[in-house]
Amino acid sequence: MQITALTTAVFIFFASTNAAARTWEEAYEKAEALVGKMSIEQKVNITTGTGRGLCVGMSGSTTDPDFPALCLQDGPLGVRIADNITAGVSGITASQSWDKKALRKRGEYMGKEFYGKGVHAQLGPDVEVMRSPYAGRIFESFGEDPYLNGVAGVETVLGIQSEGVIAVIKHFVLNNQEHNRTTSSSTVDDRSLHEVWAWPFARAVEAGAGSVMCSYNKINGTYACESDGSLNKLLKSEMGFQGFVMSDWGATHSTVDAANNGLDMTMPGGEGYFGKNLTKAVEEGDVTEERLTDMAKRIVAAYYKMDQDDPDFPEVSLNSVNRTKAPMVDVQEDHAKLVRQLGAEATVLLLNKDEALPLPADLKKIAVLGVDAGPDPNGLNCGGDNGLACNNGTLAMGWGSGSATFPYLISPYEGIKSRAGGDVEVVHSFDSWDTDAAQDLVRDVDVAIVCASSDSGEATVVDGNAGDRNNLTLWHNGDKFIEAVADANEKTIVVIHATGPVTMPWIDHKNIKAVVWSGLPGQESGNSLADVLFGDVNPSGRLPYTIAKNEDDYPVHIDLHDTIDYKENLLVGYKWFDAKNIEPLFEFGFGLSYTNFSFSDLKVKTSDNEGELVSATVAVENTGDVDGAAVVQAYISFPESAGEPPKVLRGFDKVQIKRGHKDRVSFAFDKLSLSVYDVEKDDWVVPSGKYSIHIGASSRDIHQSTSFTL
Ligand code: NOJ
Repeated sequence: MQITALTTAVFIFFASTNAAARTWEEAYEKAEALVGKMSIEQKVNITTGTGRGLCVGMSGSTTDPDFPALCLQDGPLGVRIADNITAGVSGITASQSWDKKALRKRGEYMGKEFYGKGVHAQLGPDVEVMRSPYAGRIFESFGEDPYLNGVAGVETVLGIQSEGVIAVIKHFVLNNQEHNRTTSSSTVDDRSLHEVWAWPFARAVEAGAGSVMCSYNKINGTYACESDGSLNKLLKSEMGFQGFVMSDWGATHSTVDAANNGLDMTMPGGEGYFGKNLTKAVEEGDVTEERLTDMAKRIVAAYYKMDQDDPDFPEVSLNSVNRTKAPMVDVQEDHAKLVRQLGAEATVLLLNKDEALPLPADLKKIAVLGVDAGPDPNGLNCGGDNGLACNNGTLAMGWGSGSATFPYLISPYEGIKSRAGGDVEVVHSFDSWDTDAAQDLVRDVDVAIVCASSDSGEATVVDGNAGDRNNLTLWHNGDKFIEAVADANEKTIVVIHATGPVTMPWIDHKNIKAVVWSGLPGQESGNSLADVLFGDVNPSGRLPYTIAKNEDDYPVHIDLHDTIDYKENLLVGYKWFDAKNIEPLFEFGFGLSYTNFSFSDLKVKTSDNEGELVSATVAVENTGDVDGAAVVQAYISFPESAGEPPKVLRGFDKVQIKRGHKDRVSFAFDKLSLSVYDVEKDDWVVPSGKYSIHIGASSRDIHQSTSFTL
């Protein structure tokens, strides 16, 4: 067991900020008392799912002593298969905000909605690091950097759990594509496993996450849900995880191995591995009763930790077999406001030539164009999670279990038209194949706003894409359409809705004056976009991944081998581009503002305090004409002997600065931030030597650097 002093300190810090009322110790005391009264069958019952019903997962219950069936419901962006909920900003777009407070608020409002529907465990957040831009589910988590994923995961877990709902971090681990997800085996070296793939899970565990979902894939030939190395050793022992491990749906493949190697609850149940077979295994001594008690205690403790024994805990008001049969419980409150704000704030302005944006006040006529600009002619939810394999109309979330049912969806056209008001004529064409019609329409408009999308999701095939994307080009003739519009209008603004990076063959077109990266903003999409286009909100989003010039610049495509070798090791995302000297089109951390920021006076101090081995401060000044938020990013270069990538993100802060004003931003780097994982010592160590710290506006726009020695 290796919980370092540092890990413990961080844990205590999080425990005291988490609004969930009980500590783990208190929760375990209660769990011990309850589980102590249970028979073997009763303990087995609560570890075994009873199939999809009111919720996508229901655990078994007991009477005398009483323990309820827990309701487990997807997903990472909102309550799935439900009405009267908020279908908000996807994880990847929330991450674009680089705003810890906004990420926390998003977690809190989601937690409230799950709680309001009587859900015990929200099946999210997804904190998997984006390995390949093609992977279908990259939109559910927080991008290509482990540190950013960790911070976003922590804020989301704390937000959700502060409302009395168990956060289920997923999918543990090395589950980074949809193709062959249930049959392939991932292999990775131990150092990269720790420093990249397990890092965000470790941070979310420190924040008190109540549950972890093990993934479909195998790890070094063993199914993730029966992997002693990843569940017992890494998660429970090294990370000190105190909650329960649930299987992904159908990811359990054995009784004895799964139970002995760390699985605590099987989902959705019915496959026969737990239930009677687990009872038999305990009776025959293949699984000790002590281990079964531990499984049960972990589940019951997570329940008590979130105070779910409170008599006011709501009844489940979902029906995951037939959504329309669920009782009407409206949990939306005013969460749409937060969604709109976050969608706008998270918008990444990639290009803004001749100050094309914000739009000038004297506009007379705007054209809004493309399939992605308008409503879906087949109804609101064709592309989400309603059994329909399609992607029409504007894109605001990916597909699969990481989606939710839109209560409404404001398209770019609707958002722009309503903001433009009666004096501005807004014309549209939502047919991206009819380039002639679009060109005719845009010849006499002041500005042409052309929207395009690229979608992906979980498992199901949509337009030939089996979850993972076949390529990174825009859908619905997007690239040709953008070019055709730009050929006919001198002020063309491109808006992209996508689950991940796309290629931009049109980027150098002289008439393309601005590119707005909206990501997946959820139900308020068009309003968030209009807020930015008209300058009501100064965009402060930054890319959580690299947008490459060419598809082949990315190191990892979808791998169809039985064994998926993570041979890029530590060089994931921008670290690959940096190490191989490949110039991206838009780098990790990039994003423009309607104002400018300058950085100066970087000061660094070292100390012996493990919680703050190094501290740094830097002055940031808003030198432009409008107020705005700077995202100040801190990258560390390790001593050369450490064998780390050229630089790694280890801190960021988003600060609102009024025009003409200056602020100081501070960073504290603890022992872990300055450590590498030493495989021989099986521990984190701080390499001795010369480090550099780089402060900048992106991973490649570094303004201040200095060095220090440890
Ligand atoms: C399978 C998905 O991989 C997982 O993320 C989801 O929570 C479950 N299905 C339940 O729907």
